[in-house]
Amino acid sequence: MVNIDNLSVHSFDIIGDIAILQIPKGMEKKSKKMALEIIKKNKNVKTVYARGKFRGRLRKHDVKFIYGINKAETIYKESSCLMKLNVKTCYFSPRLSHDRLDIAKQVKNHENILVMFSGIAPYGLVLGKKSKAKKIYCVELSKEATKYALDNVKLNKIKNIEVIQGDVKRICPKFKQKNVLFDRIIMARPQLKDSFLKEAFIVAKKNSIIHFYDFLFTDEIEEGYKKIENEAKKSKKKYKILGIKKIRDIGPRKYHLRFDIKMLN
Ligand SMILES: C[S@@+](CC[C@H](N)C(=O)[O-])C[C@H]1O[C@@H](n2cnc3c(N)ncnc32)[C@H](O)[C@@H]1O
Repeated sequence: MVNIDNLSVHSFDIIGDIAILQIPKGMEKKSKKMALEIIKKNKNVKTVYARGKFRGRLRKHDVKFIYGINKAETIYKESSCLMKLNVKTCYFSPRLSHDRLDIAKQVKNHENILVMFSGIAPYGLVLGKKSKAKKIYCVELSKEATKYALDNVKLNKIKNIEVIQGDVKRICPKFKQKNVLFDRIIMARPQLKDSFLKEAFIVAKKNSIIHFYDFLFTDEIEEGYKKIENEAKKSKKKYKILGIKKIRDIGPRKYHLRFDIKMLN
């Protein structure tokens, strides 16, 4: 947290040597002052951006440069993994670090895991380092994020990760054709309309665990359950919900939630 003119600025992320700052409404003129304060208090920070919107299917981040070295590539460290990325062209959130570790702790020996929407591969890397999974497939649409994911797998010398560039809608039926099914499927999906549950059900089997993420207001939780129920019905799948976990706040009364689903057929 930093203090500028008696206003506490605590909404910023540090990704490697880059800070991404939420400029409070009406404080735009003070953004450089805030950036300087962040750099002063965090000696490793070399660059400060203002947070923007994540846009389109590839979730590119509309950040605006404020101060420091004008660059967008950095290396971030989490759970003993090095993660290289470009903060403008790749989606990444350090706020999901606890979720990645939480899932890694649930993984049993020799699991076959699918990470859909894998980005620069943060879930894959943490699971690769912190679990005894047999094989982890990471599927990502963006060529740029895939390039970083491949670099990151090498950088961390993890041997049981395969990174595939492509659309999960096209890749999942291919897995099924080759009889590759998964013990665990992680769906850290983009905040878009499509649930992609149909694709997850294609590659799930009896006792698979699906971690399905949704973005809901407190009074919409029922809709999350309904979404899963409707898609399961269409795919003739039976399941039970093991739990629902709040991952983080994403706005007033709006949450990023994780539904843990166990398949019964
Ligand atoms: C919210 S980001 C999550 C990235 C990563 N899981 C993480 O936590 O950093 C969603 C990712 O899904 C990718 N994506 C969007 N649609 C996709 C699709 N149909 N198939 C595969 N990846 C997709 C985007 O390019 C983006 O990198």
